[in-house]
Amino acid sequence: MPFQGDIGGGTRVRKSAFELTPIEVDKLRQAFAALRKLSVTDPADPRGWLQQANVHCWNCGGGGASVENIHGNYWFLPWHRAYLYFFEKILGKLVGDPDLALPYWDWDTRGRNVMPPPYVIPGDGSNSLFDPYRGVVAWQAMPASATSAEEMKRLLSLRDWASFMGGPAGSRRPGALEFGTHNRVHQWITDPGGRANCGVQDMGIFSTAGQDPIFFAHHANVDRLWDVWRSLGGEQRLPADAEFRQRTWTFYDENKRWVSISTDQILNNAGSLRYEYRRPSLVGRMDHGIAASHPLTGAVTPAPSKSVAQAPGAAQLLTSEPQTVSAPVLVSAELALFGAAPPSLEPTVRRLHIDGVALPPGGSTTVRVFVNLPDADERTPPSGPNYVGAFTVIPHHGSGHADVTRQDVAFELSAETEQVVPGVGAILVRLVPLAGEDMRPLGLTLEYQNVYVATE
Ligand code: C2O
Repeated sequence: MPFQGDIGGGTRVRKSAFELTPIEVDKLRQAFAALRKLSVTDPADPRGWLQQANVHCWNCGGGGASVENIHGNYWFLPWHRAYLYFFEKILGKLVGDPDLALPYWDWDTRGRNVMPPPYVIPGDGSNSLFDPYRGVVAWQAMPASATSAEEMKRLLSLRDWASFMGGPAGSRRPGALEFGTHNRVHQWITDPGGRANCGVQDMGIFSTAGQDPIFFAHHANVDRLWDVWRSLGGEQRLPADAEFRQRTWTFYDENKRWVSISTDQILNNAGSLRYEYRRPSLVGRMDHGIAASHPLTGAVTPAPSKSVAQAPGAAQLLTSEPQTVSAPVLVSAELALFGAAPPSLEPTVRRLHIDGVALPPGGSTTVRVFVNLPDADERTPPSGPNYVGAFTVIPHHGSGHADVTRQDVAFELSAETEQVVPGVGAILVRLVPLAGEDMRPLGLTLEYQNVYVATE
């Protein structure tokens, strides 16, 4: 049946997981416990814990080729919003509280780059928010660069929906929120050192990620940041194509009804879904708007060296060593050479593309990207005009699976970086594999194809 709008209860207020009252923590734990129990007492109930986790798995490749993947393109944000909506309603139903709201983990607030305490303390089966398949422990801090004020500012300054949300349906191009901090947090939770180069159950692999309760707090924050970014821009921050607006997704609701909901119906969460985010109320808040001017690490624009030639289309291998490649700066007419669609509107932004990124099945890693800084390595600070951003690759399935998911990663050039990238010619792109904050990963074999800058 088609979604009729949210009914039952008032507006659900999602709060930071760091700001829950003891009573709210209790209620949340009861709800997750009820969900887990339902999965045991009635495995066929579509609202149970494993069934719900498998909804995520099904849509990330587990459903086979006929099910469109909701990672790696602009479906990522709307689909996860709908998933969380129905999940939240089910939690509330199981404890008889229609106002129960999912908390969000605001890793972007200063000091909150640690797991929210209710999810890790106590760290055993008595806590329904705990999950044994994690590498992190209570109070362990995420690498500062993953969620730094500068990183958030970079993310929220993106001008174009394709940069932030991902490429259109059918593309394999994740948006910066997905391939950046979102993936990094998934990876960090199971492999905090980043040395394993493989996804680890649960959060580290998309097919099992929904089996860790922190998934839902992590994604509530991703969902919140989508709203923050939209509020900074307006309607042009949404894809205008009818396919985006009208696409429907189907979920079981809290009454086990099979409900289809369209993207249009979920865009206004306060209205049609009746939930909203309460801003983090403590010290940190979001730093992005007020980020102080950061130290610039020497902006240099060396002439591309002859020794790093690269033919379009050639597959390249990135191992644990940082690597420099020469990338052409294309004008629009040249895009077709690389199989990219020519821009349909006025060219608005330039992006640095790294196409065809792939790891062996089950593989996972983070790579920092610099332009015209050929000496950059894992100790080079991720800031300044020459730093373009970082991407993290997370496997869709464990290593038993044969499939390799290729992705196209594209970084919108910031106004600052524009200054060090010429209008035509070529640039040097420095790829720096990263484990933790400033270490090289071990035994990495990442494949990628074309690297180029394009105006779109
Ligand atoms: Cu569907 Cu965080 O992934």
